[in-house]
Amino acid sequence: MYSFNLPLFLIFIILIVGIWLWKRYTNERPHGNKLPPGPKPLPVIGSLHLLGKLPHRALHKLSKKHGSIMSIRLGNVESIVLSSPDAAKLFLGDHDADVSSRPKLQVAKYLSYGIKGMAYTEYGSHWRALRKLCAMEFFSCAKINATADIRREEIGKTLDEIRGCSMKNEVVNLTEMASKLIGRTTFKTLFGRKDYGGSTEFMKVVHDVGSVLFKHNGKHE
Ligand SMILES: *[C@@H]1O[C@H](CO)[C@@H](O)[C@H](O)[C@H]1NC(C)=O
Ligand SMILES: *[C@@H]1O[C@H](CO)[C@@H](O)[C@H](O)[C@H]1NC(C)=O
Repeated sequence: MYSFNLPLFLIFIILIVGIWLWKRYTNERPHGNKLPPGPKPLPVIGSLHLLGKLPHRALHKLSKKHGSIMSIRLGNVESIVLSSPDAAKLFLGDHDADVSSRPKLQVAKYLSYGIKGMAYTEYGSHWRALRKLCAMEFFSCAKINATADIRREEIGKTLDEIRGCSMKNEVVNLTEMASKLIGRTTFKTLFGRKDYGGSTEFMKVVHDVGSVLFKHNGKHE
C-alpha cells in the first residue's frame, strides 16, 4: 500500500525545479547566440499569458516596448516577432535562405506524412522538387486557365445567393458564404467532380486541420 511520503515528495519537487533551472540556463540559447530583446518568460508557459484574446494587438504593444525585432517564448518555443517593413525585409529578403525552413511542429508531422508536404517541409532538394512540381502541374497559367470555368460558375452562384438574400431582406453571413464558396471551388478543382456532395465532408476536414494547426504546438524533435 502507498502512503504519502513527504521527504520523497520534496525531493521530487526539488528535482523538477532543478531540472527546469538547469535547462533554462544551459539550453536556452542552443547555438550560443544572443536573442533579440523581449519580455521575460515565465517557467513552462513562457510569455503566453501576455498574448491575451487579441494576440496581434498584444504583440504590437510589446513591440513598441521591445523593438521591431523581438524575441518571445511561447510555451517552450522561442519565437522572433518582426513588426516593421525593414525588419521583415531583412529576414525575408537579405537572410531568406537562413529562415526558409519551417519549425518541425508535431501537427505537420501527423498531417503531412512526416513533414513531406509543401507547406512544412524543410528548405532543400525535396522542397525544390515539390516547388517545381507545383509550379508546373498546379500553378501554371494553362492549369489556372483550365479551371477558370469552375471559379466563374461558383462565384456566379454565390452572387445569385447574395442577390436572393437582398431581395428578401435577409442577413447575409459572409463568413459562411465565403467558406462554402472556397470549399466547393477547391473540391471541384481538386477532384473534378460535377456534384460536390462530398464538399461538406471535405470542408469539415479543412476546418479540423485549421483548428489543430492554430493550436499551440510542440516541436517534435
Ligand atoms: C490564360 O487566359 C488568359 C486570359 O483569358 C489569356 O490571356 C492567356 O493567354 C491564357 N494562357 C494560357 C497559357 O492558356
Ligand atoms: C456565420 O457563419 C459562421 C460559420 O458557419 C458561424 O460560425 C457564425 O456564428 C455565423 N454568424 C452569425 C452572425 O450567424
